[in-house]
Amino acid sequence: MLTQYYTASTLDGFIATTDHSLDWLFPLADISTTSYPSFYNEVGAIVMGASTYEWILQKGMMIGTPDETEWPYNMPCWVLSHQQHVIPQGADIRITQGDVRNAYNEAFKISGDRNLWIVGGGDIAGQFFDAGLLDELIIQIGSVTLGNGIKVFPREILFPRLKLISCEKFSESMVELRYKVSNFE
Ligand SMILES: NC(=O)c1ccc[n+]([C@@H]2O[C@H](COP(=O)([O-])OP(=O)(O)OC[C@H]3O[C@@H](n4cnc5c(N)ncnc54)[C@H](OP(=O)(O)O)[C@@H]3O)[C@@H](O)[C@H]2O)c1
Repeated sequence: MLTQYYTASTLDGFIATTDHSLDWLFPLADISTTSYPSFYNEVGAIVMGASTYEWILQKGMMIGTPDETEWPYNMPCWVLSHQQHVIPQGADIRITQGDVRNAYNEAFKISGDRNLWIVGGGDIAGQFFDAGLLDELIIQIGSVTLGNGIKVFPREILFPRLKLISCEKFSESMVELRYKVSNFE
């Protein structure tokens, strides 16, 4: 099982505006023309932070509105949070807190050969990196800048720990960089 942080970032390194908007992202690419379908096929479990989870509930699923849709993932999902959250019917959501090794160990048992997707935010991926558990960074970089926002990966990683393993252009507005992380722990 690989632990992969797969996300989209602006050119200046932000995954969302400071008020959690992703409006900058959706005009950039049709997700079906990116690596997402093949990436998702290999995912056995997912992890995300509380803000990302709430974004999916409110903006992705539009919970509580007439246009409400279903939880979009069909594998177990660990949500790191100190709060209580609504859990959509039929979704396999496990709220957990503290050391990310706990979620990792549980996901490892369930996921088998499939990968663990760190959905975000960047600090959650950073916590996996700190624990020596992050194997890959897969970042789609959009041709936009925000000036400020929520950072894609708020950690210092100096050469030679990141090895570029692929670089793929999806369109004039999106390129994907895939890095292998060397973990020393
Ligand atoms: N561009 C993209 O492709 C992309 C992908 C994913 C997410 N996003 C967006 O990026 C933004 C991410 O925001 P973010 O970085 O502020 O949020 P986040 O990582 O989604 O959530 C942060 C929150 O998770 C909880 N948390 C974090 N670590 C924890 C731990 N070890 N134990 C328990 N709880 C823990 C804390 O909330 P509590 O203590 O309050 O519970 C913390 O405030 C969201 O707007 C999301 O929609 C964008």
